[in-house]
Parts: sequence; structure tokens; C-alpha cells
Amino acid sequence: MTPARHGRTAAVLSGIGAWLPPRVVTNDELATRLDTSDAWIRSRTGIGQRHFIEAGMSTGSLAVEAGARALKSANLDSVDVVVLATTTPDQPCPATAPLVAARLGMTAVPAFDVGAVCAGFVYALSVAAGLIVSGTVGNALVIGADAFSTLLDPTDRGSGVIFGDGAGAVVLRSGEPDEPGALGPFDLGTDGEHAELIEIPAGGSAQRAGGVPTRADDHYFTMQGRAVFKHAVLRMTASVQRAVRRARWTMADVDRVAAHQANSRILHALADQLGMAHETFLSNIDRVGNTAAASVPLLLNDAVADGTLRPGQRVVLTSFGGGLAWGSTTLRWPELDVV
Ligand code: UT7
Repeated sequence: MTPARHGRTAAVLSGIGAWLPPRVVTNDELATRLDTSDAWIRSRTGIGQRHFIEAGMSTGSLAVEAGARALKSANLDSVDVVVLATTTPDQPCPATAPLVAARLGMTAVPAFDVGAVCAGFVYALSVAAGLIVSGTVGNALVIGADAFSTLLDPTDRGSGVIFGDGAGAVVLRSGEPDEPGALGPFDLGTDGEHAELIEIPAGGSAQRAGGVPTRADDHYFTMQGRAVFKHAVLRMTASVQRAVRRARWTMADVDRVAAHQANSRILHALADQLGMAHETFLSNIDRVGNTAAASVPLLLNDAVADGTLRPGQRVVLTSFGGGLAWGSTTLRWPELDVV
């Protein structure tokens, strides 16, 4: 591991990558098995299609592909730690990160999963940044990867139309707080009193110990969409405001917002609450849907590739999901290669 540096240290973004499984699932295809329509999905969510994994793939394989691209973008073969945000690990035990690290050729590095559902990537970023700033590691691979298609209730048209699978990853390195790519202070929070709004009732120790009745359906993901929508707007609005304040910016300094892609109407409501133009908000939801922990890094990767996110722009990252959990941070976008 790289020894700690003297002076003020920051975690600096130095590589980015993403990957989507090849199978595209259109709204029309969903409408053949759910009571829904392309028109409803587009108008209520902004989603036109999403990608699903197929047999032989898993969250781990998505993470390996995205991680390899982020390492290449950073011109590195290995890093000091791998942190993976996911709600859909390959197995309940062990964590998926060590398997991903090994498949990327790293068999002696710390590697662990972070569970904060759709806010997971920002949480993982904060943990990796903390390890860098404390001098524990010199660089880190942070991956957000999820395969929510494996959790969906085939009869639930609410959640069933918004989720897609994918992975996004970034490399962080030790650097100076005022250089492009340096992550600003984080704003993180949870409200477990509303945990039941997003949950998988079965599959954990509470159910196995006999406390939770089990039906086959209890193994599916459930979400009370309308209530979650309201929390998403409220929590991300306040979190963005706090992260911007902690960075000593004003809202007028913000050039781009990379918000969790759950529903385009949430993005518009968030922009309205923050008094920002809708165009300030990066979006790829029409092509990928809600990819949970992968959402923010996948969005950043796509926005660099299509030129909507450019070096020097001041960016806020914000995310929200089950827990309830939310998190935001800031950075000035660096020069990065998308591979
Ligand atoms: O990623 C983590 C955080 N997740 C989120 O932030 C997701 C937040 N929630 C949402 O994006 C939205 O709540 C959904 C997309 C999940 C649902 O959209 P909605 O506009 O909130 O719909 P709703 O649940 O309030 O339902 C309104 C109507 C209902 O019909 P009635 O009772 O008014 O007749 C639903 O049955 O829309 C119906 N509906 C649908 N109709 C066609 C719900 N889903 C569908 C569907 N197709 N897929």
C-alpha cells in the first residue's frame, strides 16, 4: 500500500468505467407480461428501455467489466482496495467484492461490499475516500453494480417497469483538495423509521429465526412507489443543499447534477425544488432505467462519453434509496478518458 502523504490530502477521481449486459428489454416487451404500456412507462418514468442480465451473468460479472474499464481509464493494473456497492450480491456469503477483485487480478487487497441500496455508490465513495484521506490506502476502485431484474416480482407492474441491471466504477487516488476531481465533503443520512417502504421481507436472519412469516413472494423486492417518490425529492433536495454548503459553493456555482436515476419526474421535481434548470440534471434514464447502486457512476460515464459532462464543470452527485438512505458530494470534473 502507498504510505500516507503529509499535508492536506483528498480523494481524487482518476478513472471511470461502466458496463451494461447486452440484453435490451423494451417497454413493449414488458407490456407483453405486465398490465402496462410503453406510453404509461415513458410518461410516468421517462424510461424507454433497460438492460437485464442473462443466465451465466451476475452482479459480480457486471462489476468486473465496469471495474476493468475504470482501471484502464486510470492507467492502472491494480489498486489498494476494492469497495463494491450492491444490494444483489452474487451470494449471501461471501461478499462479492473479493471475487471481483480476484477476477481483476488482485488477490491480496482488502475488498468488501457496502449495503446502502440505491444510495450505495455514494456511501462506497465516502468509505474509499476516508481510507485514502486517513492514509490507509493510496488509491481505490469503487464499483456500484446491481442486477435488480433478479429480485423483481413478475406480477408487480410498479417496480417491474423501472429497474434495470448494470455497473459503473471509478478509481480514486490520493491528491490535493484543490485539484480537479477532488471529492468535497459528503452529506450522508438515513431514516430507518421508513425502512418498510423499500424492502425484501425474507431471506435474512429475522425471517430465518422465525420472526417473519414467509410466502414465496416475500423474497421479491417491494416498494411503496408513491411514498418513496416524495421522500426521494425531499431527501435529495436537502442533501444537495447541505453538500453544496459544505463545499463552500452556492447553488449558482453548480454546473451539473448527477442524481440517482429512479424516475425522470423525480429529477424534474428535484430541479424545481432546488431552483435549477432541468438541463442542469444529467440523465440517461431513458436508455438504462433505474440501475440502483450502478446509477450514478453509469450516468457519469455516459455523460462524459456524450459530452454533457466536461472537465472543469462543478458537479453534485446525489442518491437516494432503501434504508431510507441518501448521500451527496461535490467535485470539479477532471480530464478523464472513457474507454
Ligand atoms: O431507486 C430507489 C428509489 N425509488 C424511487 O425513487 C422510485 C419512486 N417511485 C416511482 O418512481 C413511482 O412511484 C412508480 C414509477 C414506481 C409508480 O408511478 P406512480 O406515478 O407513483 O404510480 P402510482 O403507484 O401512484 O399509481 C398510479 C396509478 C395506479 O392506478 P390507479 O389506482 O390510479 O387506477 C397504478 O395502479 O398507476 C397505476 N400503475 C400503472 N399503470 C400502468 C402503476 N404502475 C403502472 C404501470 N403501468 N407500470
